[in-house]
Amino acid sequence: MGVSLISAARYLPKGSLTNFDLEKMVETSDEWIQQRTGLISRTIAEDETIADMAIKAGTKCLENVAPEIKDKIKILIVTTASYLQVVPHVSSEIVEPLGLNKDILAYDLNAGCTTFIYALNTVERFLTEPGDYALIVSSDKLSDYIDYTDRGTCILFGDGAAATLWGYAQATDYYSINQTITNPEVLYREGKYVHMNGAEIFKFAVGTLPGLIEDVCAKGNVAIEDVDLFLLHQANGRIIESVARKLKIDNEKFPVRYQNIGNTSSPSIPILMTQLMDENILQKAKNIVLAGFGAGLSLGIVLLKGNGQYVVK
Ligand code: UT7
Repeated sequence: MGVSLISAARYLPKGSLTNFDLEKMVETSDEWIQQRTGLISRTIAEDETIADMAIKAGTKCLENVAPEIKDKIKILIVTTASYLQVVPHVSSEIVEPLGLNKDILAYDLNAGCTTFIYALNTVERFLTEPGDYALIVSSDKLSDYIDYTDRGTCILFGDGAAATLWGYAQATDYYSINQTITNPEVLYREGKYVHMNGAEIFKFAVGTLPGLIEDVCAKGNVAIEDVDLFLLHQANGRIIESVARKLKIDNEKFPVRYQNIGNTSSPSIPILMTQLMDENILQKAKNIVLAGFGAGLSLGIVLLKGNGQYVVK
């Protein structure tokens, strides 16, 4: 049995940092950034906190949800890899503002850029019968941790949030593959800033994802050609293109929509889902693969199999 996406919304802060701004801050160029990442600008939260962004995305996600469904949300997971405050947890800060009942299991989860996928794996185990609902709110503000004199990281990351409401669904099936490799050296925070060996993560993602995507499809007995959409962590457009090329699947099934947002870490996949809903693409998909990867190293792949039905309500 599986899950179905009931509602989704994103919140992107108004602040922006363009390639031309970065040219004035570090030795880089608009041409290099566009060629190596596809990025033009990044959304920056400035004074807004992770909780502020989470509330805005969550409120929008729930605004058209029937009160009887909202009342049945029994789990809230906030995914974030960049919370400054540590305690109290962000999820506790947003229960009341989102109008959720207090008899809710609410906690934060951090597995770097893979967190959204691990949160989905968690709620899938929680959604066991019709009428079960779970809310995932993903919010990250990497700009708090970026050294804007380090051209290896400052060109990549942006801030944002997205909320997704999931329900139990009999008409869909759910398959997943996860991997965690102890390698704290490729992406870590020391002192104030995040340090990253981008090329290593690039190799890890491109080397590992194609085989594991094939494996999850085999597990779910879905031919790879029958997957309608591959929603990969929007880390770098070139990673996504390389994975598509290795799998010999058309780029169109591997959407990249982060050009003016940046790599937002845990919200990147749900932000993409909202963009594809706006374009009326996600609603038409029967089989969807979601894949996250990042710090840890961590990696998670999910196949939402529609069994002839759409996986988005
Ligand atoms: O989301 C969490 C997980 N993170 C990721 O998935 C990040 C994945 N990695 C990446 O997106 C890419 O590795 C980066 C965009 C971060 C870097 O791109 P790259 O193609 O892997 O570049 P590189 O680090 O291999 O560096 C290539 C060259 C180097 O120069 P030399 O040694 O060849 O002379 C760098 O010094 O490019 C140089 N370089 C730059 N040049 C201009 C590195 N950063 C820049 C820059 N502007 N911003």
